[in-house]
Amino acid sequence: MAAGIDDISVYIPKLYLDAGDYALMRGVDATKLRDGLGVNQMAMVDSNQDPACLAANACLRIMQSNKLSPDDIGRLYVSTESSFDESKAMNSYVIGMLEQVYGQGSFEHCGGVETKFACVSGSYALYDNANWIRAGEAEGMNALVVVSDIAKYDKGSSGEMTQGAGAIAMLLNDEPRLLAFDPKVTATSIKDEYDFYRPFGKETPIVHGQYSNLLYLIQVRNALEIYKKKAAASGIISVGEGRSVLDYIDHLNMHLPYAKMGKKALAYLVRHEWRSLPRWKGVIDKVGMPEPVPKDPRGTIESILGDAEFMESDREFQKRFTRTDEFQEVYESKLASSLVASSMVGNLYTASLYLGFRSTIEFEFQKGADLEGQRFGFGSYGSGSSAMIFSGVIQPGYVQLARDMNLEAEIGPRKRLSADQYEMIHGNQLSPEESILSSSKEFVLVDVNTTPESRGQRR
Ligand code: CAA
Repeated sequence: MAAGIDDISVYIPKLYLDAGDYALMRGVDATKLRDGLGVNQMAMVDSNQDPACLAANACLRIMQSNKLSPDDIGRLYVSTESSFDESKAMNSYVIGMLEQVYGQGSFEHCGGVETKFACVSGSYALYDNANWIRAGEAEGMNALVVVSDIAKYDKGSSGEMTQGAGAIAMLLNDEPRLLAFDPKVTATSIKDEYDFYRPFGKETPIVHGQYSNLLYLIQVRNALEIYKKKAAASGIISVGEGRSVLDYIDHLNMHLPYAKMGKKALAYLVRHEWRSLPRWKGVIDKVGMPEPVPKDPRGTIESILGDAEFMESDREFQKRFTRTDEFQEVYESKLASSLVASSMVGNLYTASLYLGFRSTIEFEFQKGADLEGQRFGFGSYGSGSSAMIFSGVIQPGYVQLARDMNLEAEIGPRKRLSADQYEMIHGNQLSPEESILSSSKEFVLVDVNTTPESRGQRR
């Protein structure tokens, strides 16, 4: 039985911090954000929004645009790393809000949980729900997987320039209009690591930025190796004879903590794949030899990070390599469209990969590309740390959906925050009643109650 993504909806909060304004505030060079990280604007939540509200808004959009009733939904999962409750799952908060529209008890037949593993948990939720469908348990119903996060870092930290917020809802069923997952190829890699984590009660994460970049690369490479074996066994690729697994992927979507990370990851994976192929010689002739890639991150990470010369020389090689026509061709044809939305919105943690997917479809379609039958690869990474690589094929029904995609309209008019407003929002100085925007027709917090009985009321 097929299983895949039938439709996708995006909800982005309507406040944003401009990269130039941030740079002025903190005294950093704006080109570091724009060119170095690929960050132009970062979406920010208002004081009356939390990740459950974002998730409920994305759910309502997808249900309304597909004229679905709660009876059509058999599973509702929320994946997040911005959880505010150690026990009650975020999907139950979301159901509570949706029942204000659809009637009390209307989701009673539905199942689901909140999933957590930093930014990768939404991919695990998609996989589990696809298997629920494949197992024949859905009985004609759909699964809703919602990825929702507020990426917030400490003031003045290196992560502060890679913030963002938003939610994406994905409708899954056995006749998907957008993308059917390739069966038996999903590959995972996992290891106990401390690159980025958020202990109980702490609002912002503890981050080892460069370490997290490197682990991201190593974990997706490990998962790609497993994907390669599974994809060869299932017959969708045939590596060897001068071909790389990446040659079979028409479009690659990577987790995007910031847009440039996608390009870094592509360059790293291309280097890894091409190294054993005849075409690598042509590249090396142009740009010279790279430094060797570390084999064991746990044993060598501190020395690598402390070894400025290694990092510098590898970065220098990466820069030379990414300027070659060979790399540029792969980048433009397989990745560039997925980065457009990220640079407008910033990091959405669990939702970043799927915003990239949505971005690829919209901007490739706008360019006149025919995506039907094309294979999309997904590279998901969650700190802590785990990676997942999987793929799927674009279905004929995508055209009908792609025609109506318009990210700018979906995001809607946004308000640019002043420096003072940003500092107040970041410092949690405003109550829900003091929100910067007055919202209508969307779920917002109307009260935050810290008594054990109720955390807050949403409308
Ligand atoms: N003009 C143009 N470019 C500039 C520049 C300037 N003035 N100054 C610096 N740059 C470039 C640098 O050369 C670099 O590019 P390359 O990597 O291609 O060489 C880029 O801008 C970034 O500069 P630094 O590496 O010096 O930046 P940093 O160390 O201050 O911060 C960061 C980068 C570590 C990613 C930081 O933003 C951070 O901690 N972010 C949060 C953690 C994160 O996003 N990790 C990603 C992997 S983990 C993950 O993916 C999970 C998740 O969602 C968080």
